[in-house]
Amino acid sequence: MEIWDRLLDNRDTDDGRPVYERIADAIAAAIDSGDVAPGVRLPTVRELSRRLNVSSTTVMSVYNRLGEKGMVRGETGRGTFVNPPAQAERHRPLGRAAAQSRVPVNRRAWRRRLLAQSESRLQHAFPTAVDLMRGSPDRALYPLTELKRAYRAAVGKTTAHDLEYPRHLDLDPVLAEPILAILDRDEISATSEQLLVMNSSQQFLQLFAHMLMDQAGDEPVIAVEEPGYQTAMDTFEHAGCLLLGVPIDQHGMNPAALDDALNRGASAVLFTPRVQSPTGTSWSSARRRQLADVLAQHPDVKIFEDDHFAEASARPGGSLYSDRRLRGRVVYVRSFAKSIAPDLRVAVGVADPSVRSALNVQKSFADGWTSRIGQRTLGHLLAGDDVFQAMDRTRAAYAERRAVMLDALTSRLAGSGVTLPEASDIDGLHVWLTLPVGCSADQVAEYAAQRGFLVAPGEPFYVQPGNESHLRVNAGAAVPDLIREASSALADAVERAASSPVSAVLTP
Ligand SMILES: Cc1ncc(COP(=O)(O)O)c(C=O)c1O
Repeated sequence: MEIWDRLLDNRDTDDGRPVYERIADAIAAAIDSGDVAPGVRLPTVRELSRRLNVSSTTVMSVYNRLGEKGMVRGETGRGTFVNPPAQAERHRPLGRAAAQSRVPVNRRAWRRRLLAQSESRLQHAFPTAVDLMRGSPDRALYPLTELKRAYRAAVGKTTAHDLEYPRHLDLDPVLAEPILAILDRDEISATSEQLLVMNSSQQFLQLFAHMLMDQAGDEPVIAVEEPGYQTAMDTFEHAGCLLLGVPIDQHGMNPAALDDALNRGASAVLFTPRVQSPTGTSWSSARRRQLADVLAQHPDVKIFEDDHFAEASARPGGSLYSDRRLRGRVVYVRSFAKSIAPDLRVAVGVADPSVRSALNVQKSFADGWTSRIGQRTLGHLLAGDDVFQAMDRTRAAYAERRAVMLDALTSRLAGSGVTLPEASDIDGLHVWLTLPVGCSADQVAEYAAQRGFLVAPGEPFYVQPGNESHLRVNAGAAVPDLIREASSALADAVERAASSPVSAVLTP
């Protein structure tokens, strides 16, 4: 009897635990005993769900659980593979903690923890290293003068009436007017009845996930760009959703792979229209049309667009909301945290009535509403021209820093097997590097830290742990001279890691 058929027994042995846990444990035991060898490709979700007569979401939970333990890894477009024992060992603490936790495995934010752990370990060992690891904008570029003026204008006109509990969740008119003008410039036609306001893109993501949970009544599956925005992945999983990774290229998500993910049961999809995180790419209008055609074939699928860098992006705006076939299920979100300043806790969304009111219901249970003083501050800021001039300077500064880094890395690493993006394909803060086979991102990060610069290993930007061949570097975080120095340190670190496999700090 094949191992996969033996799993049927585990499925039927009711010991009070969820079915997915019992199946995952049986596969884990088969891997531990060697019955299923490292490198073996596990059956597809659809195949195993058919064989075991369980739902595809159950099988995805099984694979997520094994992935969390480091026992398997998902390879986009290829399937799920058994990891060698060393990899599982590396993730053992996470698995043990999960067993003790009452929070289900797939709700634990492993990406955030992994990034925080790498950062604190490296910072502890190299306390003077410059941080190019976090995704923060350069605070020297915040439009501070313009912001102070906008705060003064918002606070100056406040009455006691403005400080009451509001009677509705509509945008403050001081904000609604400039927002509609901005959306119009990006060819997103909306009226104030279609606008909604939250504290951040992250709050939109979380409440969107809660909305899906309420509507699906089960663990909804969300298709996400892979690699993709790690906070969104953690937030969705924490809310109880499952993830399916869809590969991207320099023009956006792969349409055929999206179609596949939707056929496999994803009921929602998250897009980053511009400045994709972590790669910095933006979707082309041709790709947007192809994706729209795919989505038109899946009429129940909800669509989330995270336009998080809009004001400082060099790319044209645009939204699937403008497509009549899709608009009833699109949530377009524009956050100002990355482009203007993170403490501006105001993000604006566009959605048709049913989605808008479902999100506002979730907001009413979360924190009620978004401060009107914050909304008016953003409104005053966006009503003037000076903030857009500041954004021109910010955009130019990031472009220069990315170019400095790419030039330096390209001339140093040509022929080394490292893949770098084309300068014309990327925008925003980051440069995303793909390392040659056998060169570990953790190792490079450690050597770069020794040379005075912290960079982020790319593992947390994937749906499953185990991907060790990428790095994300925040080229926008420092002035060009420092970025030149960082690039030289990073190139040295890559060369050193490629020639010496031993880790000095990260290995216990
Ligand atoms: C893709 C993406 N969306 C959103 C955000 C953050 O937006 P907010 O602060 O409004 O949640 C970030 C921040 O790094 C991001 O990378």
